[in-house]
Amino acid sequence: MPVHTYAVAWSEQGNLRLLDQTRLPGETRYLEIDSVEALAEAIGSLRVRGAPLIGIAAAMGLAAAAKGVLQRGGSLDREWLAAAVAKLQSTRPTAVNLGWALSRMRAAFERAWGEGKRGAEMVDALREEGQRIWDEDAAMCEAIGRAGEGLVPPGATVLTHCNTGFLATGGIGTAFGVIYTAHRAGKGIDVVVTETRPLGQGARLTAFELVRAGIPGRVIVDSAAAALMAAGEIDLVIVGADRVAANGDVANKIGTYALAVLARAHDIPFYVAAPRSSIDLQARSGDDIPIERRPAGEIANAAGVEVYNPAFDVTPAELVTALVTDRGVAERPNADSIRALLEE
Ligand code: MRU
Repeated sequence: MPVHTYAVAWSEQGNLRLLDQTRLPGETRYLEIDSVEALAEAIGSLRVRGAPLIGIAAAMGLAAAAKGVLQRGGSLDREWLAAAVAKLQSTRPTAVNLGWALSRMRAAFERAWGEGKRGAEMVDALREEGQRIWDEDAAMCEAIGRAGEGLVPPGATVLTHCNTGFLATGGIGTAFGVIYTAHRAGKGIDVVVTETRPLGQGARLTAFELVRAGIPGRVIVDSAAAALMAAGEIDLVIVGADRVAANGDVANKIGTYALAVLARAHDIPFYVAAPRSSIDLQARSGDDIPIERRPAGEIANAAGVEVYNPAFDVTPAELVTALVTDRGVAERPNADSIRALLEE
């Protein structure tokens, strides 16, 4: 099984088949999704997560849900689409890929509607667009890997945070795509992955990807990163993004900003890898990016205690050595270099 076709698939019945990531690495369990409610639950509960994969799952799941509506005797009209898109959009606010993919699906619906497609023909049109979004993401991951590989010196020890590989995208990954491409090129690299409190995307998911890809790696607790950098054990940091603002500020998993500050303090390059679907020119800076707050129970259960549990933070562009995209690399990213990448 190729590593990059693992987290999502179509089932034989045309449902969305999702690997339930909350159960990894201990248990490999798949979910069959054929309704908007089940899809929204899976995204909101992080059964499927990672910015690009959230968009892909929403797109494919919307097509599967449309098929489910027909099978249950309902009809597919604009009201159904608007309600479905609104429900899915409300599940997770930070990854811009969700809204990006849903806009594409809405446009595909409108195109098909205008061509007089109804019922099963509409389902086919939605399914084709969902497949296109998945295929395009896989191609963007490959391009990110090619663009970023040159930034990784032979024998480097690379620190990464959260999860950005085939469990977070439709392909080899973003930051993980660069790591994977450098490994495949025989550079003899090894990886240090932060556990990524509180849900363990590093310890559970990136560790799983490293093992599957045969890349040497070590898991550390988030707070060990400073000591490793001080000891000279880290050559570069590379992370993904949930949203890149027009000025190059980057929203990513909580703890990313701390790593960027540490990297600057230790004079270590700090790279961000993301496809163009993660760049939001409507967000002028990180201040415009909504940061998801997660439930208290993810980190504390003591009755009466208050909890602050933001899922993401914003790293200012000035701390980013380079932004690696499917369109190439923007060194010291800023509004001009980002616009230039998108216009090329
Ligand atoms: O809360 P998650 O697990 O969806 O957060 C994921 C991240 O923060 C990833 O680093 C980001 O989405 C990039 S995925 C290629």
